[in-house]
Amino acid sequence: MASTHQRQAPEEHEHRGLFARKSTEQLLADTENQDGLRRAVGALDMTALGVGAIIGTGIFVIIGEAIGVSGPAIILSFVLAGLTCLFSALSYAELASSIPVSGSAYTYGYATLGELAAWIIGWDLLLEYGVSVAAVAVGWGGYLQDLLQSLLSIHLPDAIAGPPGDGGTVNLPAVVLIAGVSALLIVGVKESARTNTVMVITKLGILVFFIIAGAFSIKSSNYTPFAPHGTSGTVDAAALIFFAYIGFDAISTSGEEAKNPGRDLPRSIVGSLLIATLVYILVAIVAVGLASETQLSQSDAPLTTAIRQAGLGSWAGDLLSLGALIAITSVVLTVLYGQTRITYSMARDGLLPRFLGKLTPRGTPLWGCIVFGALAAGMAAFLPLSEIAKLVNIGTLFAFLIVNLGVIVLRRTQSGLERPFRVPLVPVVPLIGAALCVYLMSRQPGITWLRFGVWMAIGLVVYALYGRRHSRVASGRGVRSL
Ligand code: ALA
Repeated sequence: MASTHQRQAPEEHEHRGLFARKSTEQLLADTENQDGLRRAVGALDMTALGVGAIIGTGIFVIIGEAIGVSGPAIILSFVLAGLTCLFSALSYAELASSIPVSGSAYTYGYATLGELAAWIIGWDLLLEYGVSVAAVAVGWGGYLQDLLQSLLSIHLPDAIAGPPGDGGTVNLPAVVLIAGVSALLIVGVKESARTNTVMVITKLGILVFFIIAGAFSIKSSNYTPFAPHGTSGTVDAAALIFFAYIGFDAISTSGEEAKNPGRDLPRSIVGSLLIATLVYILVAIVAVGLASETQLSQSDAPLTTAIRQAGLGSWAGDLLSLGALIAITSVVLTVLYGQTRITYSMARDGLLPRFLGKLTPRGTPLWGCIVFGALAAGMAAFLPLSEIAKLVNIGTLFAFLIVNLGVIVLRRTQSGLERPFRVPLVPVVPLIGAALCVYLMSRQPGITWLRFGVWMAIGLVVYALYGRRHSRVASGRGVRSL
């Protein structure tokens, strides 16, 4: 790595400081060192990684609250949120195939907009990934409690089964889940990818069961009135249920571990999103056809509540709860994986302490897994799910916005770059993607904007005190003008 960093031309000094950019050659050269992550993941595992990160708490838990906002029109909310993601997924696919390194939007920001913007995106991604791991794990604890009760009549003491504010003191199941997943990630990427593939097949199977078994018991009267809360309810529900789609972008964090990145990254990014969109729309059609808005919106386990209406016996509800546990485990696994890869990239650039990016001989960032696993577990232990999801949504929409704009910028600044996948009709398509992101951001509540602002302000302070002083690129150790 060092030898590449020493090659710099005099004019590069102009690009030091806050607006220092990394050339795409530099980004790729950074990955060509013997100590780097291993290129061990194929297309199928990568699509499974995407589906693993996407399908979880959103469809199993948050759908209930969203139905309370939209009514049966949640079906259209899923379409709107899915469309927003599809446009952004095309932009992710282009950037991931042209710059297949491990930092996702953070890295693309470095290539297009400079270091300060990259830091802002990286810090924003810590919110998306780190906080969502915590939020998602909290949902897992609730389902575990339900299933233990239903199958074994075991009831975990409330004090250790939930966070303060939710009737408990500490959410121990969530902590145990994150600790176990962190350990698996330390063991290795291949092992983690295999475990994930098995979980993904299982959760898809259980959702397909829900769709088929539920379809025969749909009551058409449940669809009327279709949009009792009007267009604004439908759009607000889309801004909330957007959470269910987050995760396809995690594939782009595995760019450095992809066997054939140019071909496999775009396919698996778009493919996993299309699979999830189809499943979600069908699940939504069946769920609102089985149960009333009130039943679904008041349940902590809405799909279990819905399938119980089909009169198949309690085993069907238990199966759905089991599906939720498996689904959420795979989200935690894949999102925590994405988190450690982004941290790895930021540490490699000197913006975070370098030990966070240090790899074990098995090619996994040991301390990244330990530190961020511990932080996520700490949050999961003490925070309730409710408001965190909205915070994660706004942070993710912001990252998607930058990625859409990044495609347009990089087309201008690096027209000759090899792009195995190209977004059609640039700049129109990425601009539509960016506009949809801004629209859904504008539908987030004021308090969410405030929390997001506070988080980003803390990030700027951290950058001023640490990242700016330790940056390898801004200090001239690796900068090249684009
Ligand atoms: N999309 C992920 C989920 O719904 C974050 O759990």
